[in-house]
Formats: sequence, structure tokens, C-alpha cells
Amino acid sequence: MPSFKSSSERTGWPQDVGIIAIEVYFPSQFVDQKELESFDGASQGKYTIGLGQTKMGFCSDREDINSLCLTVLSRLMERTGVGYENIGRLEVGTETIIDKSKSVKSCLMQLFEDAGNSDVEGIDTTNACYGGTAALINAINWVESSSWDGRYAVVVAGDIAVYATGPARPTGGAGAVAMLVGPHAPLIMEKGVRGSHMCHVYDFYKPDLSSEYPTVDGKLSIQCYLSALDACYQTFSRKSDASKNASSPPMTLDQLDAVIFHSPFCKLVQKSLARLAFNDFLNTPADKVASKYPGLEAFREKKLEDTYFDKDVERAFMDYSQALFQAKTKPSLLLATQVGNMYTPSVYGGLASFLASNSARNLVGKKVAMFSYGSGLAATMFSLRISEDAGPDSSLSHLVTSLADLTVRLDSRTRVSPSVFAETMKLRESTHHKAPYTPVGSIDVLFPGTWYLTHVDEKYRRQYERRPLISVHATPPIASTSTNYALKDSSSVSADLISHQT
Ligand code: ACO
Repeated sequence: MPSFKSSSERTGWPQDVGIIAIEVYFPSQFVDQKELESFDGASQGKYTIGLGQTKMGFCSDREDINSLCLTVLSRLMERTGVGYENIGRLEVGTETIIDKSKSVKSCLMQLFEDAGNSDVEGIDTTNACYGGTAALINAINWVESSSWDGRYAVVVAGDIAVYATGPARPTGGAGAVAMLVGPHAPLIMEKGVRGSHMCHVYDFYKPDLSSEYPTVDGKLSIQCYLSALDACYQTFSRKSDASKNASSPPMTLDQLDAVIFHSPFCKLVQKSLARLAFNDFLNTPADKVASKYPGLEAFREKKLEDTYFDKDVERAFMDYSQALFQAKTKPSLLLATQVGNMYTPSVYGGLASFLASNSARNLVGKKVAMFSYGSGLAATMFSLRISEDAGPDSSLSHLVTSLADLTVRLDSRTRVSPSVFAETMKLRESTHHKAPYTPVGSIDVLFPGTWYLTHVDEKYRRQYERRPLISVHATPPIASTSTNYALKDSSSVSADLISHQT
């Protein structure tokens, strides 16, 4: 359990800075991808097997980027019991833009008013699905810097991922993740090994500011994603090797206990793990190839840049890495397959899914690689080391327990037909940036504790209200004066969610 001192009381530099708590929010409604296949006239299996998606979360006109972020931040603060006065930095990563010059972070400052805390650094960061990672890096850098004032940082990543009708539509989704950042974290950002790759490309962007939909070159975006993955992994591996003693084995998938990816769709993630195996294969000394990669020697002459769509290479390394995928990556795909691409929160939804699939004891000391990709493009691979203490009162145990309700919450969502989903998309299209406007979507269908849009006035100013959350209202006040956080038992929170649903 972290205990903070004010900056004047502190001695020494903050240690083990990283992620202390994670809260995930996804919409309460979803469309089934199998039903969507037949509704769209796609061949059976294209979305479910070809893309690897089972369900897609979506929002009615009651939710926008401000409401998603209000919901997830409120839930993080309630679940952890951290007071708003104990936050010194708030960073938002999003590519869902509504007020353009006015940040989502400024809207979230409404939540800090009762605590009288306006001394909160940080602002929004945007580059497609990468903004959450830029926000996390900023937050960690702040805690590790001379600017740190001893308080926590919070990172919020949220997006509504919607596409026009056509092949990209089943790769949508929506959601938000909030992360508490500070020292003595159970998920520690490893130092000096981050590998980034950034360049100029028009694979996916949003030049039409009157529309929620991106302009997307699907095939190019996949090539960009895979080339960024290669570049980040090579840099990450080189820096990792440089930071080890000479006798340690070089960085390969064998040195990683889990590999978590930004997930536009789950099949691409499986191909990405295979791609890392292909990178390892190409980096393996010639005399070791036959023993480590039997039957794959024929691919030795292949080059990374020629093989983004080489089906022989793809198939061979997907076969080779099947067991690695099951062990190191598949557990991270729970939210990705059931909610879809959440854009900026996607890779952190992967982290939450991975943690939820494990006990704290099993996670101790593990090394997790994270790959974040945002079109345009910006990409980083970094690693988290999980702390050693898995005792019942450890921050690792609290973190894992707090995510134990993910599956129950996913299962408590409402399934809607593809035709209702399509009508909802049309409604969002026709009312996006309309003013004045009063949303018509049902409030009753929203999860308890969800913030929702009540009105947009003639000056485009947005007003929000919140559905009540029994457990929070029944036990005020949350430990608002303490700098120690005590996570609420997730089972009681999820029980409230379900009782409100039914
Ligand atoms: N049964 C099983 N598999 C099928 C079937 C079927 N009936 N029909 C097609 N498939 C397979 C295809 O073989 C293909 O698999 P493969 O690539 O392993 O060969 C897969 O399903 C997809 O089919 P495609 O014809 O390639 O799909 P299409 O080109 O229509 O659309 C795309 C896919 C490009 C990903 C589109 O959904 C898109 O543009 N999405 C948004 C962009 C995106 O997500 N980019 C990724 C990185 S950028 C980001 O995160 C936003």
C-alpha cells in the first residue's frame, strides 16, 4: 500500500514508479458479431474467425467522450478511495474530439471541485490510438521528475471507435480506462528500454471534423502497424540487451511472460505475436536456427520489410507461435474480443484482461511487454515488471481483486440487434455536433454510475448527469483525506452493478 510524503518531507527519488490501480469502463450495450455478419451480408465467419471478434460495444447518443471519461475517472476514485485533492496530475489520451480547443481534461476538472483542487497539471494528448500511452509516459515522467509534488497522477484513455458502413465497421468499439500512477506501484514501468517508432503516413486519420468517422486505408494501416511493431521490438530488444549483464540471454519472447498489444481486431494481435517470433527467428545466430526453429530454415532469407502480407511466413510463424500465443497473449484479449477496438484504451484493456485472468501470486515478478500503436503514426513498446509482494494487503492483490468483476460486467450487458445498432449509428451521424440537442437514448440501459449527456445548448455547451451507484451513495464519504488508498472489494461493486441491471 503506497504511503506518500509531501515533496518537502521526501528523501530520495521516487522508487518503482508505475501503475497502481486500473479502472475499465465499456458501454452497457453490444452487438453480436455473428449476427452482424449476416446483417451486413458478409460471409459467415469473416468477423468472428477472420477478424477474431465476438461482440462489439457501442454507445447511444447519451454518451460522448466527456461522459465516458467522467464515468471511468469517478469509478477509479471511488474504488480506490483516493481523494481528488491527492491528484497532482491528470492526463487524458483520446482521439475522440468534440470541443476541439477545449480539452476533455478540463471537463473532468468538474469532479475535483468539491475537493477544492484545481492545482492539477496535464492536458489531452492526441494521436489516434496512441494518446493513452503518451499520457502514461507523461504521468510517469512527472512522478520521476523534479516537478513532482508528492501526489498521484491519473491517466484517462477513452474513445468511441465508430466506422462508416463497410469493411471497417465490425472493427469498432468504445470504452475508457483510468490508471492511478505513482511510486511503489505493483506494475512498474521498466527504465531505459522503451522502443518507439514515429513517422508520417496517412493510414487512418480524421480530416472531416464534422464526422465521427475516420478516413482509413485498411490495408496500409495493417502494414504500418506491423512495420511499427518490427521497429519497436528491435529497439526495445537492443535497449534491453544493453541494460543487462553480458551473461544474460538476449531479449526474445522467452524473456517475456506476457506480450500485450493494441488490438484493432484480435486476429491482428495473433499475427503480431507470430511477427515477433519471426523477428526472433531472423535474429537467431545461424548455428542455432535448426534446433530452435525446426522446419523453418527456408524462411531465413526473408526480409521483414517484404513480408507484411507474405502468407507463407504468416502461416509458418502463426503455427510456430501457437503455444506462445495461448500462454503469453490470449489472456489479454478478453475485452478486445468482447468490446472491440476501444482505440486509446485498447492496450490497457489488454493489460486489465491479462491481470484479471491471473491470481496475484501467479503474477509476482513477471515481465510484461506492451505494444501501443496509433495511426499516423506513433508507436512504442515498453515493459512492466510486476512487484514481488502478493500478500493479501499488497497493492498487487488489491489491483487484481479490483479487476475480478470484468467477466461478470461483460456478461451483464444488453445485446441489441444489428438493425438497432445500425439505427443508433445513423442517429449518432445525424446528431453529431448538433446544437441545440437533447439526446433521446435510454438512460435506464446504462450501467449504474454511468455519466450521460442530458443536453447540448445553442452554444454547444454540454451538460451531464450520473446514474446513481448504490454502493457509493450508501457509504460516503470515500477515504477522501487519506493519501493511502484502500481498494473497495470488487465483488460488492459488481453485485451492485448487476442488481441495478435487472
Ligand atoms: N471465414 C473466415 N475468415 C474469413 C472469411 C470467412 N467467411 N471471410 C474473410 N475472412 C478472413 C480473410 O481471409 C482475412 O483474413 P487474413 O487477413 O488472415 O487473410 C480476414 O477475414 C479479413 O478479411 P479481409 O477481406 O482482409 O477484410 P477487409 O479487407 O474487408 O477488412 C480491415 C479488414 C482492413 C481490417 C477493415 O476491417 C478495416 O479497415 N478496419 C479498420 C482499420 C484497422 O483496424 N487497422 C488496424 C490498425 S490501425 C487501428 O488500430 C485503427
